[in-house]
Amino acid sequence: MHHQELTTMIQAILSEKKHKGIQESVDLLYQSNEQYHWIGIYIVKDAFLHLGPWQGKQATEHTKIPIGTGVCGSAAKTGKTENISNVHVDKRYLSCFVSTRSEIVVPIKKDGIILGEIDIDSNKPDAFTKEDVIFLETIADMLAEHIRNL
Ligand code: SME
Repeated sequence: MHHQELTTMIQAILSEKKHKGIQESVDLLYQSNEQYHWIGIYIVKDAFLHLGPWQGKQATEHTKIPIGTGVCGSAAKTGKTENISNVHVDKRYLSCFVSTRSEIVVPIKKDGIILGEIDIDSNKPDAFTKEDVIFLETIADMLAEHIRNL
């Protein structure tokens, strides 16, 4: 499935389904790319990231991450996308799955406020391209709008 088609589908899901919209969007992203081995949405609340809807073969132990800790907490602090081509050389990395080789974290923000983030783990090294970054930042903007209106 192409990014443009997926973007349109996720936009439709989010506008039709208030509460199940995020889970269904995560499920669709998971199915759309065989290199996306685990996808989770973290929501910012009280200086922590709280795990929300996710999809993947295994659950993560990291369901509550302090802002500033790990790759996830760094992205939540700076508001910048983190595209980690090799998780094993990043000192901030908090390990979730032994199979993970690369990871992308895209902040979900609205009017400069960080509401949460999209976190994707891949078992393939350097799995995330510039196109993935642009695509996932578009999806994050749509999720920001959705979360704000919940
Ligand atoms: N690896 C992340 C923690 C979340 S798990 O990948 C689901 C990090 O370094 O913050």
